[in-house]
Amino acid sequence: MAIPQSLILLALLLFFTLSTANPNPNPKLSSAHEELQHKGFPIGLLPLNVLGYTLNRTSGAFAVNLDGSCKLTLPPDNYLATYSERVTGKLVEGKIAELDGIRVRALFQWWSITGIRSSGDNLVFEVGVLSAKYPARNFNESQECENRPRRSSS
Ligand SMILES: *[C@@H]1O[C@H](CO)[C@@H](O)[C@H](O)[C@H]1NC(C)=O
Ligand SMILES: *[C@@H]1O[C@H](CO)[C@@H](O)[C@H](O)[C@H]1NC(C)=O
Repeated sequence: MAIPQSLILLALLLFFTLSTANPNPNPKLSSAHEELQHKGFPIGLLPLNVLGYTLNRTSGAFAVNLDGSCKLTLPPDNYLATYSERVTGKLVEGKIAELDGIRVRALFQWWSITGIRSSGDNLVFEVGVLSAKYPARNFNESQECENRPRRSSS
């Protein structure tokens, strides 16, 4: 049975209403990126392939769902990082704790990032009891994952 034309029109109308209601300048940024910014973090901590997220505003517990696992190269030292399809943790103002799902390759080994703190113009990445500090501006842009087709350049 053919779908009635009026339904298609309604769907199109709804689609355009929803998409124009989004004031976000980069259409690929998700509400999870915005939530990061609200909490004092740069958007580049998450790749662009975010499908959605949940956040318990009482406990700060969050889960970010990506459309697949993701591989990225992080500036400035070009560390290879991987994101699991699901990244979880606790997000409060300036602090991400109990992080699970982000790993970084350094010193010939994979390290799980367990926490990230915002400290002035820097981000402090925690790996258990160890930590490393990087300028937050290195994470000012959200990247495409490397293990999937890139957007065609225009
Ligand atoms: C949010 O967290 C609070 C505190 O841990 C908990 O009591 C509550 O049940 C949680 N809400 C949801 C929807 O999980
Ligand atoms: C991010 O920082 C780089 C280098 O500092 C700069 O070239 C770029 O324009 C910045 N992008 C945004 C979106 O601020």
